[in-house]
Formats: sequence, structure tokens, C-alpha cells
Amino acid sequence: MDTKQSLAKVIFEAIDNCFPGADGLPQEADIAGMLEIPPEKEMGDYAFPCFKLSRALRMGPPQIAAALAGAIDAGELCQAKQLGGYLNFFLNRDNFAEKTLNTVLAAGEGYGSSDLGDGKTVCIDYSSINIAKRFHIGHLSTTMLGHSLGRIFRHLGYKTVGINHLGDWGTQFGKLIYAFKTWGEESEVEAKGVPELTRLYVKFHEEAEKDPTLDDEGRAWFKKIEQGDEEALRLFNWFKDLTLRDTKPVYDLLGVEFDSYNGESFYVDKTDRVVNELREKNLLTISEGASVVDLDEEESGMPPCLILKKDGTTIYATRDIAAALYRKENYNFDKCLYVVAYQQDLHFRQFFKVIDKMGYDWAKDLVHVAFGMISYDGQSLSTRKGHVLFLEDVLNTAIEKARAIIEEKSPNLENKDEVAKQVGIGAVVYADLQNGRIKDIDFNWERVLSFEGETGPYVQYTHARCCSALRKAEGLEGAAIDYSALGDDYAQELLRQLSRFPDAVKEAANRYEPSIITRAVTELCKAYNKFYYENRIIVDEAGVRAARVALTKAVKNTIKTGLYLIGMEAPERM
Ligand code: ARG
Repeated sequence: MDTKQSLAKVIFEAIDNCFPGADGLPQEADIAGMLEIPPEKEMGDYAFPCFKLSRALRMGPPQIAAALAGAIDAGELCQAKQLGGYLNFFLNRDNFAEKTLNTVLAAGEGYGSSDLGDGKTVCIDYSSINIAKRFHIGHLSTTMLGHSLGRIFRHLGYKTVGINHLGDWGTQFGKLIYAFKTWGEESEVEAKGVPELTRLYVKFHEEAEKDPTLDDEGRAWFKKIEQGDEEALRLFNWFKDLTLRDTKPVYDLLGVEFDSYNGESFYVDKTDRVVNELREKNLLTISEGASVVDLDEEESGMPPCLILKKDGTTIYATRDIAAALYRKENYNFDKCLYVVAYQQDLHFRQFFKVIDKMGYDWAKDLVHVAFGMISYDGQSLSTRKGHVLFLEDVLNTAIEKARAIIEEKSPNLENKDEVAKQVGIGAVVYADLQNGRIKDIDFNWERVLSFEGETGPYVQYTHARCCSALRKAEGLEGAAIDYSALGDDYAQELLRQLSRFPDAVKEAANRYEPSIITRAVTELCKAYNKFYYENRIIVDEAGVRAARVALTKAVKNTIKTGLYLIGMEAPERM
């Protein structure tokens, strides 16, 4: 039983004692969730808001708090005091240390996991790159947020389906075929991959400015893809293979994997059914030759959702509707997340609303997990202006820079290459998941790679510091832990951070916000470093040493788990 549950039990019994038989009072199971953390440490460790009982008891919150405080006698666990309308709890420090350490150490790296999601499935549509385009830094957030959310939900017992909804449909692929056939060379494309495809695509646009009939040629080739022409399909699939081949090293560096690569083209033949269904349900109207679903703009603020263009072809939204139906039928998800930049907000709101209008109550389970923009040295990125940063280059630069720092700080480290990779990539991932996802991110090498302050290397370094302390303790184990040695403010703060970790994981899942874990881990590291400066770990008194070592071990496990959940490695030496 964790601390909150123990407190909940005490509170429940006190309520039952003071107000037997009253109606409308919370159950024991609800009370843990009602506990708050007081704004000042002097006000105790937890607070129970008594105004939540006022209505049922027809009493003022301070009177309720006073009555409950008088009824609580749980000295082992805590002292309870009335503070205004709150019942505040001051935990018994030794007991808190014992409970917390036992819980964390028993769970090991599974700390914070639960069976909350048993039997439930979450689909996560993320990364979702576009064919024939290089993987640039604009796709970092969706990739890392989605990857992290997958790990967080699995930690909580959910089944997840990671989907890379490839951008692999549209007239641009007809243009690319024309460009390849006119100016391209098979061996050249095979050797250079996506950059060569990009060159051909840019060339097409330059030439089309001079000769607009090229656009018709591009359209004609796209038509051939649609009709299943053998050559067109072969080239189209080849472009796709090349893109995935070139993207693989980046996914490998990041440790990212998907359960499905079904992208837009996969849903093209599943859009007829969407159109028919919309028609049967009387939702389609014709507007300037195109078919649209009216979304009651007056009320919703959304313009109609385009379903079929004038020429009868589908659009992005049509394929997304088909994809949502497919996912519901095949995965029976409880939630389907779309980790996509906030610029696409209207698109998601529109097609979610269409699904709602089709009468599917699970439309409420579709969630756009939006995030902000990424810039570099204060400049926003623009493919057109040539201010682009390719993800592979960013990761490799980070690894190189980390390698240089390691060379300087720990010249004797054995596995420098491996650690440089873990630290370099970790730094980029941490910077990406550090703040609330909706916040824009500016990339600055110096800040990202610093070993001080709130950075990936700082957190990883704290983990390595714990590992080092634990190595020194090897062979000295065996003594019983003296929990009273953890009564000082530094140790208590550290224990508090540890005890809150499971809630951070749940909150991160509830809010689709990995940064909650990043923050929890960072606070834990700060608290450990303060503790570490104040206390030697390997001291002579065996009971004290055992206590500090156990605390170090609990911290180490929790940092490692936290880092894992945000997609970072935890090197043992660095
Ligand atoms: N390929 C799109 C882009 O790069 C993102 C696709 C997101 N997923 C979706 N189901 N619409 O902008």
C-alpha cells in the first residue's frame, strides 16, 4: 500500500467515526485521488480538502477538518492538523522512508507501472513521414512524442499500436515519375536515394514554371498510379522503398519502431465506402462541383469538410476518415491518438466531427495530440528558403559533440562510442520533450548538450553518479537499513519526489504529455544531487550506509525508468 492509500484509509475511518451513516460521502477508493500537495512544505506533505464534504455534511470545511483531525490517531504514519478548511498531514519521516523505499525497490524498473490499461488498446499515429522527402527536424517531435506515449501507455498496461501513416498519395508522385523518366538515372537514384528524388522534384517545378504543360504530364502519371499501371506502380513503390530505406538509420538511432506502415495509399480503395456511407446518411452536399460535409459553421466555427474534389478524387481528410474506420474495426481502440503539429488542428477537428455526424460515438476517442514548432538558432525552418535541418545530421552532430565532451571529461571511459551515442541522442530527445508539447522549441547546441542545468546529459549524469556510488557499495551490503538516517530534509525531499513518480506517469498518459515525466525525472535528479552534496553515501555506520545506498538504488531505478519512458538511454558510466 503506498502512502496515499494508507492516508486514504486513515481519512476514511475518521470520516466514518465522526459522521457515521451520513450520505454522499466519498469512498475510500476516491479519497486518494482527492489528496492535494500543499503549496508550502511547512504546511505538510499532503492535504485533504474538506470543502468537498461540506455539502453532504452541511458543515463548514474548518469544522469538518477540526473534527477529523481530532479523530485521527496514526502516529506511526503521520500527524494530522487542521489548517483552515484543509486537513493537513505531516508524515512520520522514518515510516515514510521505509514505505517509499520498500515500494520503489520491490518494483525495480517496473516502478510506476500499473494494470490500469488491461484489455485496452491505444492507437498512436505518429512520425507519419512523407515519401520522397528527407526526414527533417520538423518530424522530430511527432516521432519522439509518439514513441514516448507508446512506452508510457504500455507501462500502464495498455496495448498500443504504433502507426506510421505514410504520406504516400497525391499528384506529386505523378510529377516525380515524370521527372525521373525525363531527367533521372536509375543507378543515380538508387545510390543517392531521397536527396536525388528531391533534386528531381525541384527540377520539375523549375521546368514547370517555364512550361506549364508539364503539370498535365504529372497528372497523367498520377492517373496511371491510380489505375494500377504496372510501370507507374513499380516506380511509385520504388520511391517508397527508397524513402523507408533512407529513414531507417534515423529510426534505428532513436530506437523507434512501428507496428504498421499503412499510410494514405493504403486507404485509397477504402474511401468508396466512406463516400457511400456519407451519401446514405444524407451528409454529403455538392458545393461548386465538389462533395462536402456541412459542419454547421454557425455553431462549430468550422467550414465544410471537403470529401471529393470536382474531378471525383479523394483528399487527405477522406483518407483519414477511412483510416479511422479501419482502425476502429481492426484494432478496436479505446483511444486513437494523432501526434501531429498544431497547424493541422482544423483538419483534425473537421474530420473528427464528420465521424461524429456519421453516428459513431467513438468519435470522442479520437484525439489530436498537437505540438508546437521547432526552430533552430532562433530562425524558423523553411524548406523553401533552404533553412532546413535534416534529422540524421542533427543526431550525428549531437553524437560527435557528445563524443568530444566525453573525450575531455572522461578520457578513460571504455565504451566512448556507445556512450557518445546515448548522450548525444539523449540530449536531442530531452530537449524535445522537456517542455509542454504545445510550446515552440528553439534548438541551440550549447544549451542542449550542457552537463549542467535542465538537460539530457545532466539527467544521465546523475544516473551514472548513482551507478558509481552503488559500485562502491558492492561487497558492503547486508546491514539492516536504519530508516531514521533518512529523516533530514534532503533525503525527505528525495523520497517525496520518488513517491510522486507513479502519479507523474499516470498524469503524462492522461494529458498525453511526456514532459510531465521529463520534469519529474529532472526534479528527482536535482533532489539527488543536493542530497549527494550533503551526505556521503559510503559511511562507516552500516545502518546509515545501507539507508543511503538503498535510497541511491531507488533513485537510480526510477531515473532509468523515467528516461526509458521518454525514449532515452541511461548509461552507467559517462
Ligand atoms: N504526413 C503528414 C505530415 O507530414 C502527417 C500525417 C499525420 N497523420 C494523419 N493521420 N493525418 O504532415
